[in-house]
Amino acid sequence: MIKTTIRDENIFDHKTDCLIIHCPEEKTPDDFLKKIDARLQGAIGRAFKDKRFEGKLNQTLLLNSNGSMKADNALLAGVGKKEEIDAEKIRQASGSAARLAEKSCFKKIACYVRSGEFKTAGRKEAPGAPDAMACATAEGMYLALYHFDAYKSPDKDNDKNRVGEIVLLAPDKSRRDAILRAVDQAGKVADAAFLARDLVAHPANTATPSFLADTARAMARKHGVTCKILGPAEMRKLGMGALLGVARGSHEPPRFIVMEYFGGGKKQAPTAVVGKGVTFDTGGISLKPAPNMDEMKMDMSGAAAAIGLMQAVASLRLPVNVVGLAPATENMPGGSAIKPGDVLTSMSGKTIEVLNTDAEGRLILADALTYAARYKPKAIIDLATLTGACVIALGHEAAAVLSSDSGLAEKLKASGAAAGERVWELPLWPEYEKALKSDIADLKNIAGPSVGAGTITGAAFLKAFAGDCPWAHLDIAGTAWTGEDKPYVPKGPSGFGVRLLLNYLQNNA
Ligand code: BES
Ligand code: ZN
Ligand code: ZN
Repeated sequence: MIKTTIRDENIFDHKTDCLIIHCPEEKTPDDFLKKIDARLQGAIGRAFKDKRFEGKLNQTLLLNSNGSMKADNALLAGVGKKEEIDAEKIRQASGSAARLAEKSCFKKIACYVRSGEFKTAGRKEAPGAPDAMACATAEGMYLALYHFDAYKSPDKDNDKNRVGEIVLLAPDKSRRDAILRAVDQAGKVADAAFLARDLVAHPANTATPSFLADTARAMARKHGVTCKILGPAEMRKLGMGALLGVARGSHEPPRFIVMEYFGGGKKQAPTAVVGKGVTFDTGGISLKPAPNMDEMKMDMSGAAAAIGLMQAVASLRLPVNVVGLAPATENMPGGSAIKPGDVLTSMSGKTIEVLNTDAEGRLILADALTYAARYKPKAIIDLATLTGACVIALGHEAAAVLSSDSGLAEKLKASGAAAGERVWELPLWPEYEKALKSDIADLKNIAGPSVGAGTITGAAFLKAFAGDCPWAHLDIAGTAWTGEDKPYVPKGPSGFGVRLLLNYLQNNA
């Protein structure tokens, strides 16, 4: 993580390339800004007057200080209406500012932590607390300054233009320890999100099922998570016919990743988190069209989020019990591949008629959900880039949540809003489940063409395998990857789900 220090220097006395200051939306500079404006000879006031900067969320204004203070530049970061400021807005504003600072080639940046002023920001129990403000600020900056360079030849010029040091100016000396702890936590959260992002960013010839398993094992060893990897032989023993069926078309052996972290009471039922790990989805014999097929390296984003989440939970030593599961395979059209019309027997005993081999995510998740139910968990939550239909319905702004338990869905919605990883609920009425009745087997893996509602029928299929456990499905097909820069998610993999489920576990497990 980028080197970060906390200092209690006066805002005018800190030497830095760029000093970031959060600004609420106002007609004119507020009292705090006026003091800085006096040094900058009215440049801020003029920007407000000309409406070049009004403090709107993610608006930025970069001003050279011309030696009027020790910071070479001041960077104002809009956080929106004062009464609406929350941790997510602080994360976004800090991310937007950090990215502008980096684009401007500033290597050492600082941010003044305006604590106590923004009463709605930060933790519920201590709104506006300096540690909560510092945490959101650091998290937003870290997440925004993510880079993935694994396949680029070393480029000294590139590295030179990266932010290498962050200073948080926090005048409240008495809260120094709390702020340090909060910033340390922000680093751990960002590290976990980066693990998920990296896994998704790797091309599929690197990120094979074995690579996912090896990465999970290494993460587990480092952070005190128990990890078990099942190969084809163990899968056969367990009767995972659906997962093995999908894997048949590929030369890469499948892996079933089991990660356990028991930080809570021994008797407490765990929460099970299951992530779809299709390391490349060609569609199989129901082959996908060639254009944009490269994007299907991200079809293991659910598994990546589950692995990242386990790291987050363990590195933060959360007092909760969590099991992370990730069925991992390629979906290839090899000579032994399953064919449309084939019937598979899943671990649950239910038989599945595979009418479209491109609806493979639900097949591997079927066995994973059955495996998850063996823990008698208090909830099973799966994450999957399951349907293109989800991208049609919600675009890239929210994941779909579908659940057998309305309370669980509500909790996930609340956590999503708090984490800035939004989810939107779709219904799971019995009519959709009926659409999956097969003529030859217990279920078919796609509904007929007249049914529509692709995201819902996908979820309805999964529901049949969650048993009696409270279960929720997150379709992250539209949110796992972003095609354009967002305030703290640079173009590319988002790590979606790690911070959402971390928030859920912090509040509910
Ligand atoms: N991995 C895809 C879904 C997907 C599409 C993820 C776009 C991310 C972006 C999934 O396995 C798939 O192919 N689903 C099919 C289901 C259909 C055959 C019922 C789809 O959405 O077309
Ligand atoms: Zn598919
Ligand atoms: Zn897929």
